[in-house]
Amino acid sequence: MDTQASQPIPIEKGWPLLGILPKFLGGGDPFEYLKNIMLEKGDFVQLNFGPKPVYLVSHPNYLKRILMENYHNYRKPDMLYNVAREVAGNGLTTSSGEFWLRQRRMIQPFLHRKALVDLFSEMKEAIAERLDDMAILAKNGTQVELGDKIGEIIMNVTVRTMFGKGTLLAEDVTKIGLRAARIIKYMGETLYSSMVPKWFPIPGRGQFLDDFNATRETVNQIIAKCRQEKETSASLIQMLINAVDEESNEQMTEQQLFDEVITMFVAGYETTTIALTWMGVVLNSYPEVLEKLQAEIDQVLGGRSPSFEDVPRLTYTRQVFMEILRMYTIAPLLPRALNQADHLGSYYLPADALVLVFYHGVHHNPDVWNKPEVFDPERFTPENMTGRHAFAYVPFSAGPRKCAGDEFALLEGPLVMAMMLQKYNIHVLPNQTFAAKIGASMRPAKDVKVIFSNRVAA
Ligand code: HEM
Repeated sequence: MDTQASQPIPIEKGWPLLGILPKFLGGGDPFEYLKNIMLEKGDFVQLNFGPKPVYLVSHPNYLKRILMENYHNYRKPDMLYNVAREVAGNGLTTSSGEFWLRQRRMIQPFLHRKALVDLFSEMKEAIAERLDDMAILAKNGTQVELGDKIGEIIMNVTVRTMFGKGTLLAEDVTKIGLRAARIIKYMGETLYSSMVPKWFPIPGRGQFLDDFNATRETVNQIIAKCRQEKETSASLIQMLINAVDEESNEQMTEQQLFDEVITMFVAGYETTTIALTWMGVVLNSYPEVLEKLQAEIDQVLGGRSPSFEDVPRLTYTRQVFMEILRMYTIAPLLPRALNQADHLGSYYLPADALVLVFYHGVHHNPDVWNKPEVFDPERFTPENMTGRHAFAYVPFSAGPRKCAGDEFALLEGPLVMAMMLQKYNIHVLPNQTFAAKIGASMRPAKDVKVIFSNRVAA
């Protein structure tokens, strides 16, 4: 970089020394708070985050530079990703450089639409199983927490598509699901623990280690079983075991397989669960969207179980799911640190500066989206998507480190919606307010209390 010239950067100072931390961590909706700073000060703002400045970036042009054009220069900072590394080892989300590239090359084909057809029946059965379990709750009008119920469905899908039929007994599916869910919860809760001294006892650590070791043992047993049995049902683990890197001709070791299994659990479970929990909230506020959604589901499926070919015909369902991911950006912001100085537009950033890529800000930037606060699935008709900036819609991030499971999620999310709304009405109990809370993901701060009722006679 030959010049340090920069347009003056708008600053949000906050309090002396603490900067904006008291407001950001203070218990309100932290992403709403940052969004309001963007609306007031613009899509490039310096935030005093404690004593250190960070740069909140919310325009697609800047994202294009950070995530694609100059992505080698923007590393994932250790502070945050070290916590993930304890769980996910050297898996796709946490690795970098040549090793990451090799793993990505090997794994990506199995998460593409062409490969997903093989996993579809596991996915569908897993959803149907948990929806059937809910029949008694619907019959009795039992009050439940929507996130818990969705979480049970998504964990069943995750376990079944990862390990296939027959590698696990039904009770083991439940057991590994519970352990994995606890590991992921622990990881989310300790995200900021790198700021705490090493000697400080972290609550839940004993349980975490127990869960982690037991999961490793189970996964290793499954890998051994899959290696022995040549004829197994379609599963991601089998695909990963057989994967050969076309350039180096290498296969994954046991440790790499384990890291990638855990990575996919962590990356795929909570994200999809949270997105579908927001679905309940949003459909309650937009009855006309719900009506149109149910009409499409009835018309396309006519009361029968969906086939793989039905999914692309559920166009409105997919549009609603996509709009949920815009409105409630599940990964609202991710940090990147500069290796070398760079310019973002006319702003100069020195080496080692920390940027917060504010995906949620982009999704609510009025210069990018028309009436961004309105929930409008029509934004995702093919006509309305034509000509949109490639970095305007970024729920899965973008560029080379974009989510590897986006097509999986865009199959699973609409499928769960269609199968659930085909069977049940979701009644959100009155007098609840929904805001997001602090964490890696934009999850509702409070329980979403609902009652299910049968939509069609069993
Ligand atoms: C609605 C659901 C999902 C959302 C919103 C989402 C979002 C994201 C985002 C924002 C990233 C970038 C993370 C970063 O830069 O640190 C990411 C990465 C990743 N996601 Fe997803 N994800 C979803 C579902 C899934 C699913 C279902 C899977 C697996 C089956 C998955 C696997 C991955 C992997 C492996 C990466 C790392 C990619 C890499 O660095 O090469 N995700 N996801």
